[in-house]
Amino acid sequence: MRDFRRDFPILNDANNPICYLDNSATTLKPQSVINAITRYYAHESVNVHRGDYTLSYKVSKEYEDTREVVRRFINAKYTKEIVYTSGTTQSLNTIAYGYGEKYLKAGDIILIDVAEHASNVLPWFRTAEKTGAKIEYIELDADGRITAENVRKAMNEHVKIVSIAQVGNVLGYTAPIKEIASIVHEYGAILVVDGAQSVPHMKVDVQDLDCDFYCFSAHKMLGPTGIGVMYGKYELLEATDPFMLGGGSNARFDRCMNLLMKEAPYKFESGTPAIASVLGMKAAIEYLEEVGMDYIEAKEHELHEYALSKLSKLEHIVIYNPKADNAIISFNVKDVFAQDTASFLSTQGVCCRAGNHCAKILVDYMGEANSVRCSMYFYNTKEDIDKFIDACAKANKDTCLDIFF
Ligand code: ALA
Repeated sequence: MRDFRRDFPILNDANNPICYLDNSATTLKPQSVINAITRYYAHESVNVHRGDYTLSYKVSKEYEDTREVVRRFINAKYTKEIVYTSGTTQSLNTIAYGYGEKYLKAGDIILIDVAEHASNVLPWFRTAEKTGAKIEYIELDADGRITAENVRKAMNEHVKIVSIAQVGNVLGYTAPIKEIASIVHEYGAILVVDGAQSVPHMKVDVQDLDCDFYCFSAHKMLGPTGIGVMYGKYELLEATDPFMLGGGSNARFDRCMNLLMKEAPYKFESGTPAIASVLGMKAAIEYLEEVGMDYIEAKEHELHEYALSKLSKLEHIVIYNPKADNAIISFNVKDVFAQDTASFLSTQGVCCRAGNHCAKILVDYMGEANSVRCSMYFYNTKEDIDKFIDACAKANKDTCLDIFF
């Protein structure tokens, strides 16, 4: 098996060794992604869809070809169902304002759950405020999972939109999206899926899942920041309004305010896009395909089991999601504030995130607002996990506070 770590410059910097376990926040970049971005800035840095010259045609083609690469990666039906956004957050905001605000009315219900990231909560709060719709929550089961059964319990004829993550960014459970989609559709509602924590780690087939919208970010799957995707079934994209207007998205307008928008996906892509980032996302997907999603899933599973088996032996550690389906462990050192633990881990050369991980209402389930999160990716090794475990073994009230004095 090829050593994929060799492809990541940051993992091969002898002067700055890194034990990176914050992959749910963002991922490291392989050289091929870096090359795609630098090639654009060094040799191709022209605009797309606006230049009547060969180089602009070439870059526009590569930019549009990326849509097909994304389509194939998530098995969307049509290339025109792939909308470029700045990331999952912009995708979800677009759906909330462009679809939710357009169609919801007082008395309608938007169904979410308390494990959702802020980007899948706050846009819906705003949409609810503007339309008079109500937010209701799918109850999590005893482990913190979203189950099809609990979705069914929460459904009624007033629910118009259900918006949930396929994989939660704190507890790391995989929601049964296909089953949930079928229940949601029985009630004539639509299902929006936050795929930010799933697309990087597993094979995703949006046609098989039968979700209506699916959103994700390139930077969590080896690509650059500032670029992501909003997939939508085409008739829903047609029904959705862009919340941002400008150049590139309109076919024509005149001084009397007559405006004709282009069709999706272009109507959502006003302004000069993140061209280098789109090309970087293409390189990232090609790299992931070369590694193989099956390999990624299996490797992460192995690392996760290994880490859990060791961490659960440390009696001063509380693990909040010992049954997680994905390689995410949320934990605390007893009697130590999560951020202090993360700062201590950093002194041991280990990078983990601490806090509420933008899932601020998950405290309703966890009973604890803050945790330390160890999130793995396929390029991590058992040596990384050993280093993490050694650091956790040393973490306690004294060592974690000592670093500040
Ligand atoms: N959503 C990212 C995380 O969970 C930033 O860390």
